[in-house]
Amino acid sequence: MAIVKIYEELSRPDLHNVLLLCLLLLLAVHTWRWMQKTGERIGPPGPFPWPLIGNVAQLGRSPHISFVSMAQKYGAIFQLKLGSRTVVVLNGEHAIRQALIGKAVDFAGRPDFTSFRVVSQGRSLAFGSYGAEWTAHRRLAHSTVRAFSTSNVHTRKAFEQHVLGEVCELVLIFHMRSAGGAYFNPAPSTVVAIANVMSAVCFGNRYSHEDPEFRALLGRNEQFGRTVGAGSLVDVMPWLQCFPNPVRTLFGNFVQLNHDFYSFVHDKFVQHQGSFRDGLIRDMMDSFIQALAGQPGLLQREHVPATVADIFGASQDTLSTALQWLILFLVRYPKVQAKLQEEVDRIVGRDRLPSIEDQPSLPYVMAFLYELMRFSSFVPVTIPHATTTETSLLGYHIPKDTVVFVNQWSVNHDPVKWLNPNDFNPSRFLNESGSLDRDLVSRVMIFSIGKRRCIGEELSKMQLFLFASILAHQCNFNANPGENPSLEAEYSLSIKPKPFTVSMTLRDNMELLDCAVCHMSKEKGNQ
Ligand code: HEM
Repeated sequence: MAIVKIYEELSRPDLHNVLLLCLLLLLAVHTWRWMQKTGERIGPPGPFPWPLIGNVAQLGRSPHISFVSMAQKYGAIFQLKLGSRTVVVLNGEHAIRQALIGKAVDFAGRPDFTSFRVVSQGRSLAFGSYGAEWTAHRRLAHSTVRAFSTSNVHTRKAFEQHVLGEVCELVLIFHMRSAGGAYFNPAPSTVVAIANVMSAVCFGNRYSHEDPEFRALLGRNEQFGRTVGAGSLVDVMPWLQCFPNPVRTLFGNFVQLNHDFYSFVHDKFVQHQGSFRDGLIRDMMDSFIQALAGQPGLLQREHVPATVADIFGASQDTLSTALQWLILFLVRYPKVQAKLQEEVDRIVGRDRLPSIEDQPSLPYVMAFLYELMRFSSFVPVTIPHATTTETSLLGYHIPKDTVVFVNQWSVNHDPVKWLNPNDFNPSRFLNESGSLDRDLVSRVMIFSIGKRRCIGEELSKMQLFLFASILAHQCNFNANPGENPSLEAEYSLSIKPKPFTVSMTLRDNMELLDCAVCHMSKEKGNQ
């Protein structure tokens, strides 16, 4: 009754009522606009953060897997608090593509972390912030990497020679270590072999596998990865630097290892400058020196050692990790090893070694490599990104300078996209006619996408193909029956298998490998 009375009262057309109606209308419009505005500014959902530490305790030992569980609860985009910093986590191909491709510039930044400024004395391409200098830097680095690896048939051949030399040496070392049926840990030699390929390309020289200084320089990849990888506490809890604790120790070691690594590259830079001759480009270092000589521009001479350090550092950690997974999968899945051997024998024959030209004819080798990358997802989360501006993603508001984690593992293990994603099955990448399924391989995400996509992707695929095909052609890897070759991993920027041992037997003798080395030495002598 009361409501009817109010309605009747308001329906009377006097001035008082008209004013009241206008006021109500204004209020409604204002409220609607305010709701719309705040609706746009709602950030992604996420778990409740605890004071001081935020959600650190929820990351566990494998943050990429914890992120997948959280995504099931909160959705593909959610936010966390790590210490003092808000972090937006992107999961699944759709959300990641929307951000890194759809809003490429908005998500192309890097966080202003103290540790990032330590790398390459603050001139790192990989850890530097987005802008005009970074764009010029990346363009130069990318074109130089291509010019020394995949840009044409001559550069491919020259690069192949470096790889071939190192595979031969590696097989020889594995053969010696397996003497009398012994089992050995292949990991340290894989690191030196990969680093030697990149050392030859970057500086024009290689090192003995026994060189203690070179081994010490390379032996600290994991500490590096644990400091800059997603979920590291070094940068999000600055107060941990005020008293002795493991995080402070980790950061101290990180500063020291970056100093040592940069000094190593800088010494090479000084030597190269001393012997540089215009027009005679011996390696990548010379190429960068020439590109930046006396040119007024955004990049200075100091960018030369920084860029080489980035390329040398980024490549040896990732590729040696890939090689360790490769050997582990061979012993863990002997049937896959036999299939690889069958394919290389059938296509290449036993009278010569596989070469880069064989790649299109060896689909199972390529399928094996894609499955290795998908299954291990050994760079599970990219280097942390940051937003360069205030932005929004799939309806959620994200402020400028927000840290963004890109969970590649979630793409590679998405049960909607992959049949039995937790099975290791290279054949999933082959179509009915036995050739590589191009559409499916393009769904594997390990080099990231968008503006920060890895500049070493092509070089890496070529190098891994050569290692995989030559090792399959020449070697039999056997698991240690005293160990269960598990697929357990240690989390860092790149996830590495837990230490394991294998033994290797040659499939023939060393004749083909010896011939290849002899041929290479002759060619070098003729140059
Ligand atoms: C299988 C081997 C490799 C994998 C899986 C890999 C993966 C990655 C990933 C995930 C990123 C971060 C992308 C992002 O933050 O969104 C990256 C960046 C980078 N990678 Fe690689 N990488 C590999 C090999 C290499 C090699 C061989 C080189 C050098 C020739 C290289 C040079 C770089 C550089 C310079 C960046 C920084 C790019 C930027 O910030 O713009 N990587 N890589």
